[in-house]
This record gives sequence, C-alpha cells and structure tokens, in this order.
Amino acid sequence: MKKIDVCLSPELIHLYDFKDRVVVVVDVLRATTCMVTALANGVRKIRAYKDLDACRSMRNHGYIIAGERGGQKVEDFDLGNSPLSYLDDAYLGEQLAVTTTNGTLAIDKSKHAHEVIIGALVNLDAVVDYLRSQDRDVLIFCAGWKGKVNLEDTLFAGGVVAKLQGDFESECDAPQIAQMVYDRAKDDIIGYLKNASHVKRLNGFDIGDDIQFCLTPNTYDIVPVLQGQDLVLKQQQLHI
Ligand code: MLT
Repeated sequence: MKKIDVCLSPELIHLYDFKDRVVVVVDVLRATTCMVTALANGVRKIRAYKDLDACRSMRNHGYIIAGERGGQKVEDFDLGNSPLSYLDDAYLGEQLAVTTTNGTLAIDKSKHAHEVIIGALVNLDAVVDYLRSQDRDVLIFCAGWKGKVNLEDTLFAGGVVAKLQGDFESECDAPQIAQMVYDRAKDDIIGYLKNASHVKRLNGFDIGDDIQFCLTPNTYDIVPVLQGQDLVLKQQQLHI
C-alpha cells in the first residue's frame, strides 16, 4: 500500500526522505491559499521566493510582486498576502513572484521531491483526489510558523490523511495526531481555530475576511504543481 506521512514543521524536514514522494506544501493562513486562489483566478504562473530581494528583483522581469513578513505587506511590493486580491480574475494572465514568512520557505525546502503540489483548505478535496490518482508515497509538509507547529496546517494534513484512509497507510504518529485535530475540528473549522496563534495574529491586522476565506473548504477544484521554478496548473485545469 502507498504510504503517507506528515512533517509538522520545517524544523523537522531533515528527518524525512522525500525524493521519491509527492510533497504537498500547506500554509493555510495564507500563502498556499493565495497561490491556489491566484491560479484559479487566471494567474498564469507563480514563482515562490524565500528571500525578499530575489522576489523584488522579479518586478524588472514583468512579474507582479507579492510579499509578506510577519503577516504584513512588504511596503514597496505590489501586493501583500491576501487571497482576496486575486478574486474576479484581477490578475488574469499575469505572472506572480511571491515571498512569505513560512510558505515560500517550505516550498524552497521541498524542491528535491519527486513532485511538489500546493494544498490549502480551499482545494482540500482536489488534493485528495490527485494523491489518490498517483502511484506514489506522499509527504504533507506543514509550513507552520517560524519553525513552530500550527493548528491550521496540521488540520489540513489531518483532513488529507482522513480522506485517504484505505488508500494509504501511515508511517509514524504525526498523521494520527493530524487526523485527531481534523476530526475534532471538521464540523466547525472556524470555531475550532479561533484561538490558533496565527488567527489571533491576523485578527490583530483586522483581516477577518481573509481568515474566513482561507478556512472555507473546497472553493476550488484545482491542484497547483511545481514545474521547474514555477507553480502552474496542469493543462486540463487551465482557466484560460
Ligand atoms: C506565511 O507564509 O507565513 C503566511 O502566509 C503568513 C501570512 O498569513 O501572511
């Protein structure tokens, strides 16, 4: 049977051998939600950077640049890290360069995987269907917050594990921990996460609409995939 594992923090990623696996990078609040939303709304491709300066330099190459540190927009960037920026095809056909505190770092750390895909609650079931269709072991890589574990990414991981029961077997205890979180939260995700550290942090910036959007499952039926340096949609999922 195929195997599934969960890395709960980037600080633990060195413990995992994922070169033959599909790695699902998740940063529910908000990096990977933004990526799914942007591509679902017609952004052509996304390049993820861990460094601010490298991301900023992409403006000279025709990219829209989006950046966040500590949850707040980088001052001279075009966009911050709100998924709502991309709704209504606002950046249709554009190319985006993105840097965030945790999410883009996790993507960078995953680049030696067999394949990297992007997960968030907004595409939870699409990710599950995709993984079920692949003949590969899986690692779900939670971006967390500055090396620490967070609830919302763990919850997403647990949702994937729960929905793939019977197709995959778990290897260590992290998938079980994640599934326990998901089982407790699934009927009221927003209520369950109201005291999560990053929800409280973002609430301090008065962006309740972002949180609501990010914590609403299955808005989109797409799975971004890393091809070379770019996150894209596979042909059959293309919006334009
Ligand atoms: C991150 O990558 O750390 C997050 O997306 C932070 C945020 O909510 O903007």
